[in-house]
Amino acid sequence: MTLPGSPHVAYRGDTLFIDDCSLAELARRFGTPLFVYSRTAMLAALGAYQRALAGRDHLVCYAMKANSSLAVLQAFDRAECGFDIVSGGELERVLAAGIDPNKVVFSGVGKTRAEMQRALEVGVMCFNVESESELDLLSSVASQAGRTARVSLRVNPDVDALTHPYISTGLKGNKFGIAHASAVDVYRHATTLAGIEIVGIDCHIGSQITEARPYLDALDRVLDLVEAVESHGIRLHHLDLGGGLGIRYTDEQPPSADALVAAMLARIDARGHGQRKILLEPGRSLVGNAGVLVSEVLHLKPGEDKNFCVVDAAMNDVARPAMYGAWMGIVPCTLRDAPPMTFDVVGPVCESGDWLGRDRALAVQAGDMLAVLSAGAYCMSMASNYNSRGRAAEVMVAGSNAWLIRERELPGDLFRGEHLLPAD
Ligand code: LLP
Repeated sequence: MTLPGSPHVAYRGDTLFIDDCSLAELARRFGTPLFVYSRTAMLAALGAYQRALAGRDHLVCYAMKANSSLAVLQAFDRAECGFDIVSGGELERVLAAGIDPNKVVFSGVGKTRAEMQRALEVGVMCFNVESESELDLLSSVASQAGRTARVSLRVNPDVDALTHPYISTGLKGNKFGIAHASAVDVYRHATTLAGIEIVGIDCHIGSQITEARPYLDALDRVLDLVEAVESHGIRLHHLDLGGGLGIRYTDEQPPSADALVAAMLARIDARGHGQRKILLEPGRSLVGNAGVLVSEVLHLKPGEDKNFCVVDAAMNDVARPAMYGAWMGIVPCTLRDAPPMTFDVVGPVCESGDWLGRDRALAVQAGDMLAVLSAGAYCMSMASNYNSRGRAAEVMVAGSNAWLIRERELPGDLFRGEHLLPAD
């Protein structure tokens, strides 16, 4: 049986492996629910971007919102990767992983004064600024701190990324970026502000994009703006073209990172901008297919309308199906020679929205281990403690090595920081 997604997650006989580790064995050793990531797969995905950009001034900035576990950051850092952050919390994670802040771009539509102060203090490479109001605040924070903020304006190219509405960000109606029509004026305004140094331009149009066309349309709009801005004597050193490349969850056919980057570079060169530094902010495409979530089947519950396969992972571990109706592959860690039945795979959380997969043909029994595929991105980083469920443990593998990179949360961890009321 071949699986969509990464070649690093595959059956050998009837046993599902990630790299050279059996997932059922990892589940026995570390317990479930358990996220397992292949470092090999992550670095291969990063390498595809880096190879496509070789010979140019560039930095691939991993959008760490996709998976912000410290060991994941550390693995990318060791492979010359930069980082895209969206909060003060992500900045502290970067610092905790020992990463040089000068490889960090700070994105996000609602940066606070305190986040700006901290990012200036540690010296991030660039702020991706999303509104005039943010620009003014950053100028005042930087001036007060006696520092200069390097700035790139995130422009909204008004291009349809052809993806789920919740994760489309480059349309006029989205909250993100500075409208194409006002970008030149905001750049001109930026030149008048103290504590601001303009270094680039930025755009990001959405996530799980499976076609090259929206990227090229957005790129054209951005290059138009670069030319318009520079005609006012404002120099833009780098182009940050965002992230958003989709992965294969089931039968999607996104372009490969190499092909997409090659097409974008060809357009950049054709328009005479080949000398500029290129930044990219991929998240999902670096980690999504490098990870799985292993979960134990607790009960099979046949019903009149539906059969349910109740597992020990839930919407608090993998929110994507409940949140976006997203399809995630679900397969057994050990194949059984038995006829499959059709199940809704659901978790123990007290909501009917708590499902991981619907109408899945599976040959399983209670006690079996199932793997939710493509779970390296936007799963652990979106996990919650709903129903007072501790978050899962995480393991990183490379070849036959397996390292626990995050301990399973215990009940005591969940109420740390809470206080009982004083006696009446
Ligand atoms: N840069 C910016 C400014 C972003 O907002 C994002 C994602 C990225 C880069 C990385 O995009 P990626 O390469 O991962 O597509 N939780 C959703 C995805 C939300 C994406 C938000 N922004 C999901 O589970 O599908």
